[in-house]
Parts: sequence; C-alpha cells; structure tokens
Amino acid sequence: MSVTPAATDIPVDDIDLFSDEARIDPYPIYRRLRDAGPVVHLSRQGTFALSRYDDVRTALMDWETFSSARSVFVDPEINKQLEGITLCSDPPEHSTLRGVLGRPLRQDRMREIADRMDAAAEQVVTELVGRGHFDAATELAEHLPMTLVSELVGLGETHRGRMLEWAAAIWDVQGPVNDRFTAAMPLVEEFLAFAATEAVPGKITPGGWADQLYQASDRGELPREKCPVMMLDYVTPSLDTTILAITNTIALFAAHPDQWDLLRADRSWVPHAINESLRIESPVAQFTRVLTHDHEVDGVALPAGTRVALLYGSANRDERKYPDPERFDITRRPSDQLAFGRGEHVCIGMHLARMEMGALLNHLADRVARFEVTASRPLLNNGLRGLEHLAVRVHTG
Ligand code: HEM
Repeated sequence: MSVTPAATDIPVDDIDLFSDEARIDPYPIYRRLRDAGPVVHLSRQGTFALSRYDDVRTALMDWETFSSARSVFVDPEINKQLEGITLCSDPPEHSTLRGVLGRPLRQDRMREIADRMDAAAEQVVTELVGRGHFDAATELAEHLPMTLVSELVGLGETHRGRMLEWAAAIWDVQGPVNDRFTAAMPLVEEFLAFAATEAVPGKITPGGWADQLYQASDRGELPREKCPVMMLDYVTPSLDTTILAITNTIALFAAHPDQWDLLRADRSWVPHAINESLRIESPVAQFTRVLTHDHEVDGVALPAGTRVALLYGSANRDERKYPDPERFDITRRPSDQLAFGRGEHVCIGMHLARMEMGALLNHLADRVARFEVTASRPLLNNGLRGLEHLAVRVHTG
C-alpha cells in the first residue's frame, strides 16, 4: 500500500486494484493515486496508471500515441488473444470494423426502436411499482437489456439466456490472473467456441446485429474470419454495463431524494442525471493502452511500449475537474464525463444505453415519489463495478 518514489521519479504503488476491497470501494485508492502524481506505477499489475481527468481525456483523444492495437486489458495472454477485435484495434482497421459494428447502433437507427423501448419500460415499471418492492438490479435493470437488446443482437433463443453469464466471464478476464479470472476462463473459451460454430448464419436470427456482421462480410466490407470474434464486441458490453448503470442510478436517487424531486419536477434533467450517475459510479473502471513512441504525460517521461491504465472511474471523480466530486448533483450537467470513453473508441452503444436509462427514469418519475433501499450486494468482477442486487421499496404519491 506504499506510495514510494522509484528511481525514475515515478511513484510506485503496490495496490491490487482487482482485490475484492478495491472493487467494492476503489475511490479512496483513486484519490491516493491522483494525489501521488500524474503517472503512478502499479507494480502488481505492471501498468502505469493515469488517474487524473485531463490526462485520461488527452490520452483517449490521441490514439496515435495511446494505441489500442495491442489490446486494452491487463493480462498479456488475453491481450494477445483478443488483439484485432474492434475495441483492440487502431485506425484504419478500427475504422472499418467500427463502421460495420456501429451501423445498427447509430442514433437514427435507435429512433426506430424508441417506441418499443418505451412501451417495454412502461410495462416493467408499472408492474414493479404496483408490487411496491423489487430488486432494481435483477428485475428492473436487467429487463430491457435481456429482452430487447439481447433480441436485437440475435444470437437465437437457445443462447440468449447465456449472454449475461458469458459477458460477466469476458469482463472478468479483463483483469490480471486472479481467482475470478481463472474461474471465468472456461466460460470465455466456451463462448469463443460458440461464436465460431453456433453463432453463424442459419443458426442466428436473420437480420439481427450478429447476422448483419456476416451480411457485411458477404458484401466484402469485412473479412469473414473477423465475424466470430466481433461477436465479443456485441455480447460483452451491451448488457451488464447498462444494467449496472441503471442500478447505480436508482441507488443514487434513493440516497439523494432532493435530486429525485428535481428530476420529477422537470424531465429535462433526465439526460444530466444519466451523465451524473455515470460520472460518480462509472460501470467500466478502466481500459489500457500501449504507447507507440516515447511520450511525456504531464511532464512525466514514459518510453514506447509502456502499458498505461486509463482509470475512467478516477478521472470522473477528479477534484481538479469536478468540485466536490463525491457529491451526486444532477445540476452540474457533466456532459464531459468519461464513463463512455472519448475519441476513436468512444462507446458505440451509448445512444442505446442512454435510451434505456432515459425510458426507465421517465416512467419511474411518473410513479415513484421515493426509493428506499432495503438491501444491496456489490458485484465482484474484474472489469465492471456496481451492484449485483439492490432491493428497494418504492413509495408512490
Ligand atoms: C452505461 C453503459 C455503458 C458504458 C458505461 C460503456 C462504456 C464503454 C467504454 C468506457 C468504452 C470505451 C472503450 C475504450 O476506451 O477503449 C466503450 C466502448 C464500446 N462500447 Fe460501451 N458502454 C456502455 C454500453 C454499451 C452498449 C449498450 C453497447 C452495445 C452494443 C456497447 C458497446 C461498445 C462497443 C462495441 C465499444 C467499443 C468501441 C470501439 O472500440 O470503437 N456499450 N463502452
């Protein structure tokens, strides 16, 4: 836990950012890293952490220096195995893959599903609020991703139910080799085998997002061998991220009823509430990059080949950027928060995630005066942060 200057003048910290304690509450650690300097050597992970807002944002906007092509995770083996998926590539390859992957997720395509999304949100909110108490994670937040989004991905009915399990495992191997990583590996292998042999035309939903990858490869827009591994780009980030974001938002409004009153009184606060929730509780804690050439971060020299960890969760709570960063305040309108990343790799599903969150918040605001948390349990995952369970009682009126 020491922060000691190394010979190179870069502070060294031997914190394990992937221990249970650090996953549950990383914020005091993040503050320590931010205070230690612009770059801290995380000796256990073998990465160099960028924890301050300006440095993380600058790195995200400069893919030519901060490359994703040698993957964006921690473990060298997994990094090698997943090189070349959309998340782990640089332009020009990245632009080709992202162009195809992002087609069904464009804002104009999202408008086509807006009515269905809204109706599904209204239905689940009416039912749960009518009951008076529910699990905001498994019953509320999972509903839209597991019904609508998994249907749009279109892996076929038999395998839709496995998506959450596979995705959680894929997020777990994004950390270092610890117990969670080891337990997840067989499931990741199962998914990769499934993607290669089962998630193929004829077995997947015709016209679904997965199928559209194969259609693009038939038109020559994408090498066919890319299609199975690109399933990862749809399956991994499309469900749990949003589920956690929704659950976190409910927990925050339960703890800050004054903010809920604001939103209830004026729905134009909804987009700001979404940003503020993502800022203060970022579901994706970090990704890494590799320096393509010698480079200085805020005056700290790093050699080419250095793997840096971009700590989104820390950047979003940087007191240099957001005054009183621990305060949940939707009126700060933090549209520049980094929970979706920035630049070349900015989240391709953010319009979808915002739409899901917005639909639920609007229908909840019509019906719920107060959320009261009766129990909660944190999720323990190497890549994701948030709550696995959040039992709430709702008061109407
Ligand atoms: C609140 C929910 C979400 C959060 C917090 C989130 C977070 C992120 C972040 C931080 C990145 C940047 C990766 C980087 O910097 O290397 C990213 C990229 C990505 N996200 Fe999301 N995401 C969310 C929802 C979704 C959804 C619903 C999808 C749907 C399909 C999705 C698909 C992707 C993909 C494919 C990329 C890679 C884009 C690229 O490399 O060009 N995400 N997301």
